[in-house]
Amino acid sequence: MISNPTTAVDKTPKNTKLTSNQALSPDPNLPAPGGSLRFKLRRLAPTLTGETMRIFIDGKYYDEKNAKISVFDHGLLYGDGVFEGIRAYHGRVFKLAEHIDRLFNSAHAILLKIPMTRAGIIRAVVECCRQNKIRDGYIRLVVTRGVGTLGLNPHKCKRPSVIIIAGKIQLYPPEFYQRGLDLVTVATARNLHSALNPAIKSLNYLNNIMAKIEALNSGCEEAIMLNSEGFVAECTGDNLFIVKAGQLLTPPLSAGALYGITRGVVMELARESGMAVGEPNLTRYDLFNADECFLTGTGAELIPVVKIDGRVIGSGKPGPATKKLVGQFRELTKVSGEPIYP
Ligand SMILES: Cc1ncc(COP(=O)(O)O)c(C=O)c1O
Repeated sequence: MISNPTTAVDKTPKNTKLTSNQALSPDPNLPAPGGSLRFKLRRLAPTLTGETMRIFIDGKYYDEKNAKISVFDHGLLYGDGVFEGIRAYHGRVFKLAEHIDRLFNSAHAILLKIPMTRAGIIRAVVECCRQNKIRDGYIRLVVTRGVGTLGLNPHKCKRPSVIIIAGKIQLYPPEFYQRGLDLVTVATARNLHSALNPAIKSLNYLNNIMAKIEALNSGCEEAIMLNSEGFVAECTGDNLFIVKAGQLLTPPLSAGALYGITRGVVMELARESGMAVGEPNLTRYDLFNADECFLTGTGAELIPVVKIDGRVIGSGKPGPATKKLVGQFRELTKVSGEPIYP
């Protein structure tokens, strides 16, 4: 997800002291809030260890300054490529196989042949974490169509490029994990399945970026995107859930939701604790009258929502089911994942 790409490479040192108000913030290593200027300063500052980030491009490692791809890469020229955002927790890469499967499915859907095997990419992601001494962090895995001509024809691109960046991310200011987000429904509809299927996690995120701009213009951090029929699809970089009468509900994939890895984890955790889980079509009315609402995503993790289009949701505070799922999710991240330092 590219909600805030400037922060994707923020290399906050592990032992940096942060705000105390992170009761719901799942990552204690998240940088303190403070707006973009603060981030720019952090971004330019040397890391605690003085080491530069090492970035994987097509089998070789480059330091940050020298990690470059061609201006003729169709990933840049046309957004032609696919990607994954992945998290590492406690020295393990969380749900790595699931992310790699989704990457290969996205690539298959756009007829892009990834020039590495699944096992090779898994090894490369883990090694890239090691190279960057990551225990808790965010990994961006990108496969571009590669260098081609100025025309659209992807067959002119002889070799796709594989890029891996292992750093940190912060999608929303930490205080929102405690008090909850305020969302707005935007006019930009989610892509039609028949145009650019929202299940494909492609490098072309303009649909989401247009919606994000609308949210930011109305003073909200995140946007709810509807599909062309008016049903809720998802947010610009997250899946959306509501709790109603003890049931956990989220839009179906057919409504235009990404097959979110965190979405799947949360649905499983809810079922394990005896909660009924459903995937009906949801309207804004259903959201307004929900008992609780929250978003899920690899970058965002689980974040409560307390207001939508000016309507207070439930009690106006993060609800008990949301808090319970945040706790269960955190516990799972402590024990699950591909070990980086076996
Ligand atoms: C549009 C969109 N929806 C939902 C998600 C959440 O998916 P996941 O939990 O796999 O990160 C993402 C992030 O990848 C996204 O970009």
